[in-house]
Amino acid sequence: MVAVVLLALGAPGLAGGARQAAAPAQVAAAAAAEGRRVRLIPVGGSEPLGAWGHVLALLEAADQARSLGFEPDTIVLPTATGGTQAGLVAGAARRAAEAGRRVTIHGIAVHPDPDLETKVAGLVAALAEMGGFAAPDAPILLDRGQVGPGYGVPTDASREAAALLARSEGILVDPIYTAKALAGLVARIRDGRLRGPVVFWHAGGTPGIFESLG
Ligand SMILES: Cc1ncc(COP(=O)(O)O)c(C=O)c1O
Repeated sequence: MVAVVLLALGAPGLAGGARQAAAPAQVAAAAAAEGRRVRLIPVGGSEPLGAWGHVLALLEAADQARSLGFEPDTIVLPTATGGTQAGLVAGAARRAAEAGRRVTIHGIAVHPDPDLETKVAGLVAALAEMGGFAAPDAPILLDRGQVGPGYGVPTDASREAAALLARSEGILVDPIYTAKALAGLVARIRDGRLRGPVVFWHAGGTPGIFESLG
């Protein structure tokens, strides 16, 4: 799907399938050859500069929540490479340093990588150093109960959660990333584990809705 979008944007000689993984480097090389300044950021923004975007996103979301009259207690999100979670954890630490109140960041793993917590913690430390604030010492919260048979494979719980959100709010989520996190959120709400205002981090992935139809 990524390669299809790149083709639509004019990337030369690319197609879907196995060549998808090579597409970003090819596009970057072509742009650099045209004299453009290129910085390739990996999937998930999983390096300090990329994850910094998620730090800014946390700060922006906190401002938006405040302008709506609430402070989130918990943010629930999908975690695949860990870049988003690291940015939100670091952003929460930075926000806490300014506003005195810390939002808990709760990742729902959508990838079985056993080193995810370590990767997230390493990125958080790098982000804190970049931003000049103290890295939080709280453990990285990651629920591995929604991965199911594997990365990119829908589960009954993710399908059920996606249908629930679509039918109750008209909001669509893909069945393999965001819907697995949504399933984790629904499970937590049903068994009473969440208290206070909760923000669900819709992480995009809309093309995945159509992949699952193919
Ligand atoms: C749509 C979507 N949401 C969430 C994620 C998870 O983000 P991260 O890789 O930063 O953990 C991904 C990553 O694959 C994704 O494609």
